[in-house]
Amino acid sequence: MGDYRPLPEEAVRLLASVGAPPRLVAHGELVHDTAAEILAWLRRAHPDLRVDTEAVRFGAALHDVGKARHTGELTGPGHRHEVAGERMLRDRGVPPDLARFCATHGDWSAPGRALEDLLVSLADKVWKGARVAGLELAVTRRIAETAGEPEWEVYMGLDDELRVLAERADERLAHQARHPVVPPGTAAGE
Ligand SMILES: [Fe+2]
Repeated sequence: MGDYRPLPEEAVRLLASVGAPPRLVAHGELVHDTAAEILAWLRRAHPDLRVDTEAVRFGAALHDVGKARHTGELTGPGHRHEVAGERMLRDRGVPPDLARFCATHGDWSAPGRALEDLLVSLADKVWKGARVAGLELAVTRRIAETAGEPEWEVYMGLDDELRVLAERADERLAHQARHPVVPPGTAAGE
């Protein structure tokens, strides 16, 4: 019940610096926590796989930071937050290879996505219980290729892990919904 891992300090600082509403901070915490669970599984199941865990955690925490500006996209659809978020982070001195997650998380099927990008996209789906076959297959292939293991075996392990993670989706959704969309002291939304 709300026992999610704390965000990396740098992420907390950046979210505060853009005036992120509580709902956005809560979303970052939930996707970050889900990503951390997936990374922990990767460490157990595929210990030799090289993954930039810090980048995945950072990306999961901040992928939606552009919604601090495009607040309508906190509650409705839209992609304006993606490029805007990347720019906001770069303007604050975040290196391009970390700021990129804002722009890449929404389109996992684009060519050239790194495993780290796919993992952020995956966490951003499974936190709310969404299972996306094509994305899971892309993650499976990448792990199998790199680790030299059969795809079916990698997928069986991933599927088990994602099933367990998806079981807590309702709890996460309720946690996020308890956090207001507008910053404290603000009269109304967009
Ligand atoms: Fe998200």
